[in-house]
Amino acid sequence: MATMAKATTIALLVAACFCVALARDNAVRTNARRLALAGMKTPVGWWYTLKTKSGMFCGLRDFPPKPDGYGSSRLYCIFPTYDHYWMWRVTKVNDTGALTSGDEVYLTVYQPMLPYCKVSSGIVVCGVGASAATKFVIEKETGKGAINLTTDAVYLKSATKYCSLTGKNHSQVLQCDKTAKSSGTAFLLPASAYTAAALVNGYTEYPCGGDFYPDNDPSNITCGIFNAPGFVVNMTVALGTPGAPVIKTGTNVTFKAYDDLYRYHMSQFKVNKQTKRMYFEVDNPAGANQWFQMVLLTNSSTTASVPLTNGTMVALKSAVTGQYCGLTVAAGSLSCNMTGHAAALPAGYTYRFMDGGWPMKEGTTATWDKVASGKA
Ligand SMILES: *[C@@H]1O[C@H](CO)[C@@H](O)[C@H](O)[C@H]1NC(C)=O
Ligand SMILES: *[C@@H]1O[C@H](CO)[C@@H](O)[C@H](O)[C@H]1NC(C)=O
Ligand SMILES: *[C@@H]1O[C@H](CO)[C@@H](O)[C@H](O)[C@H]1NC(C)=O
Ligand SMILES: *[C@@H]1O[C@H](CO)[C@@H](O)[C@H](O)[C@H]1NC(C)=O
Ligand SMILES: *[C@@H]1O[C@H](CO)[C@@H](O)[C@H](O)[C@H]1NC(C)=O
Ligand SMILES: *[C@@H]1O[C@H](CO)[C@@H](O)[C@H](O)[C@H]1NC(C)=O
Ligand SMILES: *[C@@H]1O[C@H](CO)[C@@H](O)[C@H](O)[C@H]1NC(C)=O
Ligand SMILES: *[C@@H]1O[C@H](CO)[C@@H](O)[C@H](O)[C@H]1NC(C)=O
Ligand SMILES: *[C@@H]1O[C@H](CO)[C@@H](O)[C@H](O)[C@H]1NC(C)=O
Repeated sequence: MATMAKATTIALLVAACFCVALARDNAVRTNARRLALAGMKTPVGWWYTLKTKSGMFCGLRDFPPKPDGYGSSRLYCIFPTYDHYWMWRVTKVNDTGALTSGDEVYLTVYQPMLPYCKVSSGIVVCGVGASAATKFVIEKETGKGAINLTTDAVYLKSATKYCSLTGKNHSQVLQCDKTAKSSGTAFLLPASAYTAAALVNGYTEYPCGGDFYPDNDPSNITCGIFNAPGFVVNMTVALGTPGAPVIKTGTNVTFKAYDDLYRYHMSQFKVNKQTKRMYFEVDNPAGANQWFQMVLLTNSSTTASVPLTNGTMVALKSAVTGQYCGLTVAAGSLSCNMTGHAAALPAGYTYRFMDGGWPMKEGTTATWDKVASGKA
């Protein structure tokens, strides 16, 4: 669904003759852009999907915002299915304590430079800096006190007026002009993605990743020493089903990375169902082949679903091949082609889950520090 919204964006970008660096086809992925490493500036933490209580998911029209994209990116909620591309957060203006009904909050989108949303001429647009951000008031739909974003529906208010969605399709806007709470739109913000993590292969002891801007799509997923610009190992884990902010073994997840410039392009792990090879696909957060499960290394036939912690050893299983993913030689690429008990898998089919991403030595650009794997 993001594809639909962004395709529209591109058409308009091209029509308006804006920055070609933002265009999405291979031909114009400039060298300069390739050299902007992806995933390096990935912060660590949870992000959320924004949806209406009635089940429509939100995105931004005309994304990315100025100076390189559009004027302002309008918030709208017209997508009937979850799209992990869009990542949102509410942050307390006074950054202390638990989120509570009545708190002043900023609404932000996963964008490095201009992440804030504001009310402009009565409607909510995003892609502005902190100084222009609107301080919304967040209110629980019912009751008072602490807000649990996993379960509580919330309203947003701007200067005493409740915000509500109005209009259809691409003309929809979130307008903050309602006096009655009952006229506002109730939103849910289940957790959808954790930034950043790394999967360190048990055989190579290096983190796995792919070339963010491949010359020839798709690029393989490898877990080796690497020195080419564009290769990314700091991954964001997107949940297949948004909910509580926890990554559990046995649940569907995908691994993805955004470009560090605008977080506009996104590449993610997928698998080719026929060849069973894993690949890194640009800008297509759709398809059953994007889902994988991390599985504890046990012989148990019951599918344990426990929260992953830093350092947990896991196998990686594709939701579409139903087989474990790994490599057979250090220089090889990942294939999801192995059956059997997780505990009996060869090292190349095992991984150490690293919370916080892969640490890089100060002053280096793309030289991995093997010490970080704990095995040097
Ligand atoms: C991965 O992310 C962490 C946390 O943001 C950062 O310290 C590290 O340098 C990044 N490593 C690479 C290779 O981008
Ligand atoms: C937030 O902090 C500012 C400055 O310390 C204070 O004026 C304001 O009342 C606080 N707002 C809330 C909602 O606590
Ligand atoms: C929020 O609700 C979920 C689901 O009921 C629960 O598991 C979680 O512990 C709650 N979080 C907090 C901080 O209370
Ligand atoms: C507008 O949305 C409605 C309901 O979701 C849909 O039936 C209709 O096809 C959409 N129209 C356009 C032009 O996309
Ligand atoms: C990807 O891996 C396959 C099989 O290992 C290999 O044949 C192919 O050349 C690789 N592609 C790239 C772009 O390296
Ligand atoms: C995981 O993803 C696969 C492929 O889309 C799907 O068939 C399966 O139902 C999903 N599992 C869960 C628990 O959502
Ligand atoms: C798991 O099963 C394999 C194959 O049956 C066996 O070799 C291995 O010892 C078992 N591991 C554990 C921890 O039970
Ligand atoms: C899985 O794929 C790798 C790489 O193509 C290959 O070397 C290995 O033999 C395959 N394993 C199975 C069990 O098919
Ligand atoms: C995870 O463990 C590694 C050591 O293996 C450590 O460097 C890193 O800081 C830990 N991450 C978090 C979020 O604590």
